[in-house]
Amino acid sequence: MAEAAAATKAPLTVALSKGKLLSGSEGLFSRLGLPIPNGGGRRLVVEQGDARFLFVKDMDVPTYVEYGVADCGVAGRDVLLESESDVYEPLDLGFGRCRLVVARLVGSGFDYHRASTVRVASKYPKVATRFFLERGVSVEVVKLAGSVEIAPGLGLADCIVDVVETGRTLVENGLEVVAEVATSSARFIVNRASFHARRAEVADLLARLEGLA
Ligand code: PRP
Repeated sequence: MAEAAAATKAPLTVALSKGKLLSGSEGLFSRLGLPIPNGGGRRLVVEQGDARFLFVKDMDVPTYVEYGVADCGVAGRDVLLESESDVYEPLDLGFGRCRLVVARLVGSGFDYHRASTVRVASKYPKVATRFFLERGVSVEVVKLAGSVEIAPGLGLADCIVDVVETGRTLVENGLEVVAEVATSSARFIVNRASFHARRAEVADLLARLEGLA
């Protein structure tokens, strides 16, 4: 009985974002022969072959991986910069490319170089704080969960730090980029203990992903 239990291996658990990276992740695992059933549905834990997929909010992917609930995952570099999670990041998967930028209202003339304190709205409070403090500008972050592009126009903030992909959301809300904070793309991340304890499986998955990325 004990031998049977020991022989039963837990599936490799992969944390995926339910957000913008989902379609790229689905495409990737599908090409690996692990099509994800019901990826956009309401079931948040799905087993497929030797793998188990967790569908979580993008900001939570590094947390599930860092705590070892998931052995590995797919997270944007933007999210990893914000979370500062202690995980391995062995591979740039090449999709989900975007930029983290500072943007202001067109015509506002707002110049953070000349401001004594900048009030910035963002879903990325740590990234935003680091950006301004590294430039010697004191900063007050208004943390929002989304739709940050409306904040400057409504007087909530001087500027925003947010992700830009096509740039449409900025344009449609009367904003313009004034600085680039970082570039981002989807990264394959691995829990530090799993990287060693499940070395063969992780290495195999990594090699197959490298072949596709
Ligand atoms: C992200 C980001 C921008 C938008 C940028 O928001 O925060 O709002 O996408 O994309 P674009 O440059 O192609 O217009 P998301 O769709 O994740 O929604 P949210 O605002 O609710 O976070």
